[in-house]
Amino acid sequence: MTSKQNSPQKAPPKMPGAKPIIGHMFDFGKNPFDYMMRLRAKLGEIGEFRMFHQEMVLLTGPEGNEAFFRAPDAQLDQNEAYKVMTPIFGKGVVFDAPPHIKDQQLKMLMPVLRDKPMRTYSKVIVQEVEEAVKDWGESGEVDLLDFMKQLTIYTSSHCLLGDEFRYELNEEFAELYHALEKGMAPIAFIFPNLPLPVLRRRDKARVRLQELVTGIIEKRAKKTEKSDDAFQMLIDTRYDDGSALSPHEITGMLIGTLFAGHHTTAGTATWIALELARNPESYEQVLKEFDTLYGENGDVTFESLRTIPVFERVIKEVLRLHPPLIFLIRKVAKDLPFKDYLIKAGKYVCVSPRVSHRIPEIFPNPDKFDPDRFTEERQEDATPFSWVAFGGGRHKCSGNAFATLQLKAIHAILLRRYKFELVNPADSYVDNYKEMVVQPNSPCMVRYTRRTDIDAEKNKAKKSSTKNQTDTANSFKVEVDMDFCQGHANCMAEAPEIFQVDDQGKLTVQQDTPDNALLKKAQRAAKYCPTSAIKIIQK
Ligand code: F3S
Repeated sequence: MTSKQNSPQKAPPKMPGAKPIIGHMFDFGKNPFDYMMRLRAKLGEIGEFRMFHQEMVLLTGPEGNEAFFRAPDAQLDQNEAYKVMTPIFGKGVVFDAPPHIKDQQLKMLMPVLRDKPMRTYSKVIVQEVEEAVKDWGESGEVDLLDFMKQLTIYTSSHCLLGDEFRYELNEEFAELYHALEKGMAPIAFIFPNLPLPVLRRRDKARVRLQELVTGIIEKRAKKTEKSDDAFQMLIDTRYDDGSALSPHEITGMLIGTLFAGHHTTAGTATWIALELARNPESYEQVLKEFDTLYGENGDVTFESLRTIPVFERVIKEVLRLHPPLIFLIRKVAKDLPFKDYLIKAGKYVCVSPRVSHRIPEIFPNPDKFDPDRFTEERQEDATPFSWVAFGGGRHKCSGNAFATLQLKAIHAILLRRYKFELVNPADSYVDNYKEMVVQPNSPCMVRYTRRTDIDAEKNKAKKSSTKNQTDTANSFKVEVDMDFCQGHANCMAEAPEIFQVDDQGKLTVQQDTPDNALLKKAQRAAKYCPTSAIKIIQK
């Protein structure tokens, strides 16, 4: 916890070994995770290192994370730290916009990720997965990361950008998107506009994408029938003063949501299959759950994907071990106290979900894949801000519900249809730290074989017995102070069965005495509501 009363004065301890000019850049760049683990082992929960001229302070562990995520924007400035995104999202868009414009733009994006469009997205995702595996046959080998990258660019672009990009501009769009992705090179963090070929290609791609977006806006304006994708929502939305978003802004905001929806999901979807393939016991439990829910041919729908506890724990454990964003960064605009230390304005401060997730005092045996650490009995993530794969507090990733929906839908089809095995030795599948968003190393070969072992009748019986258990469970009470509610919709992302937020940000509580099976989700909704509007009362 931060302490203002003690007037902290100490400067954060420094990592030795800084080289002239580059500081720790080389060491850090080789393997950022390894470097940050060493920093924590040597200096503890706070420590400073240098990237060229820039002093960076790393905070790790729940208290460090809390100080970081709770600090107001005026103290820890996100915009400054994400200058790397300005050439990609565009000038004046989100991180580059003045605070009152940024707030409105983020608010405009909220409906895109709310419950109603999610129902449409789930159908699109299922359709895309079916299409992607239609020629797989009985068995074969595939580079799973490659497959997931392609699949999730289709699912994300189809859900968010709509039919034109998915069907008419598919190939060109894939190339442009790839050039933008490459533009997120680590060097661009420090020097976003160096005249490097990779950054020039990034800029050209941004210009071309905006031309395509402008063309589609003009085409859609002539149509009488409206599309129901995120693109259309951004065309129709308005600033407080009644003005519409420009094509430049729409392009940037669409790229922003795409990056959030695609980039991180492909790696996580791949790691899920890899971890299950090397952990047969968990694999067995997941298959049992999917088979029970869907049998051999059951439909994968938005409703049926809502509660899948065993698989949800697997997702959470995969994100604990392999969070795609291994560090998050802000610029210190006003001195930040942390315990006895003072982090001076002008420095950068960062947290690392990756390092925080490997603290043995919180997650015993931290390198072991063990989804049951998140069961009701064990709750190893009970300490606030200990599990932060989606960030935390006010800036928690608002795309987390979309990402989770994608992961569930993809695997509800893939794992039920095919059995996956590793082609190479289990320990050869490792993370690649060369990119800003960490994914498994490529190629990532797996063998798949069509499953013939689903016992539909047995599963039906299990399903009804599970249902009966749930039906007779006790309930708890949910209270919302509507004076506090500002329509953030984090509650819906955590517990959509209980909370629904409409396009205007109006909250409806669907069940005020939900079944106990939803208690943990409700507690998370209360925990992540930025305005603390939700109270959970256990009977
Ligand atoms: Fe309102 Fe909090 Fe939900 S502000 S919409 S109760 S996350």
